[in-house]
Amino acid sequence: MEIIIQPTPEEATGVAARIIARLLAEKPDAVLGLATGSTPVLLYRELIAMDLDWSHVTTFNLDEYIGIPREHPQSYHSFMTDNLFRHINISPSHIHIPDGNATDIPASCADYEKRIAAAGGIDLQILGIGTDGHIGFNEPTSSLASRTRIKTLTRQTRIDNARFFGSEEDVPHHVVTMGIGTIMEARQNLLLAFGPGKARAIAEAVEGPVTSLNPASVLQMHPTVKVCLDEPAASQLSRADYYRWVYESKPGWQTF
Ligand code: PGA
Repeated sequence: MEIIIQPTPEEATGVAARIIARLLAEKPDAVLGLATGSTPVLLYRELIAMDLDWSHVTTFNLDEYIGIPREHPQSYHSFMTDNLFRHINISPSHIHIPDGNATDIPASCADYEKRIAAAGGIDLQILGIGTDGHIGFNEPTSSLASRTRIKTLTRQTRIDNARFFGSEEDVPHHVVTMGIGTIMEARQNLLLAFGPGKARAIAEAVEGPVTSLNPASVLQMHPTVKVCLDEPAASQLSRADYYRWVYESKPGWQTF
């Protein structure tokens, strides 16, 4: 894992945006895995401002709620349209988001996996992290080998996401999410976390044991993971000085 600690969310986002911009420059038809939630909003704003060419890019989103219509303002279809897709030149046929309204959810999940494989796999997956360590909506005790499937949200996640819906009761109980096994097959993972509320989950994920109790900890088993943090999210890392030193000492061609 490469831990990149920056003073502010804006600076940590800038590093992540430059990593993505470099990938699109090297591979204009890259396959990107996208995330939702408050964390990547800044990143999408930064990518839009960079005015990149998305015409050959394919995207796969991590997850979607079950039980709210696609047009609901808090659906991840709406989120992606509002925060990224309507501002860039991506082809609508290249956009993939799990279908929370499919009549046959298991079949739709299997089809999602097939579409990822048919696109050649995900080159770079953007990830946030839940306060309980979830990635995608893979809650604690998710199988580390799981594939795209239905999941039930924890009480903690529903409390965390109540800020988007107005109240906890309005947050759906069920979601479709890429599995941890799916995420682990991405060629590169890029995890972003900001704020003190993420500090414990990040410390467990980066420095704790690999355990399904903190699903993000499985990323320790992935060969190419970058973790972009602001200082508050890094505040419980016992080796933060080492990570800063590693990043500051990198040769110029390895920096972003
Ligand atoms: P947040 O959510 O970006 O809204 O904090 C992250 C997540 O739940 O993965």
